[in-house]
Amino acid sequence: MIYPIVKYGQPVLEKQAAAVTEFGTAELLKLIEDMFESMYAAKGVGLAAPQIGIGSRIAVIDVTSGEDPEQKLVLINPEIIDKQGSQTSEEGCLSIPTFREPVTRAQKVTIRAQKADGETYEMTGEDLLARAFLHETDHLNGTLYISHISPLKRDLIRRKIRKLQKANEWS
Ligand code: NI
Repeated sequence: MIYPIVKYGQPVLEKQAAAVTEFGTAELLKLIEDMFESMYAAKGVGLAAPQIGIGSRIAVIDVTSGEDPEQKLVLINPEIIDKQGSQTSEEGCLSIPTFREPVTRAQKVTIRAQKADGETYEMTGEDLLARAFLHETDHLNGTLYISHISPLKRDLIRRKIRKLQKANEWS
């Protein structure tokens, strides 16, 4: 099932998501499958559960956009355990469509997370994957990438979005 993506302005995007405590259930497996499907349909490389209106600490990532099934990652209850270096490049978010801004993030990031069956794993990613780890983990803490840009640019984006909302072009 393809879920509609929740857009900036909806409270669920700015709330701390709840930890997952039950693993391996049919419900969880279906949700993860639907999250991948929704992410590919929206042409994203990452999707966090709050973006489909579900306040759980679950994110999916595929930096190959479906090209390589081996690169599909499920992050449940993820934590950032190490960050190194720095990189700056344009970042966007399915919940803030059409906008993109340069964001400086760590270049190499290690996460600790759980798989759908509850198994804990650690993984280190660089460049785009490091960025996705940080961006998606942020989502689970109610933080959007525009928190990492200058207040001036953020206000400009907010104002443009408010206009779109008034014109009913943002929902
Ligand atoms: Ni996002």
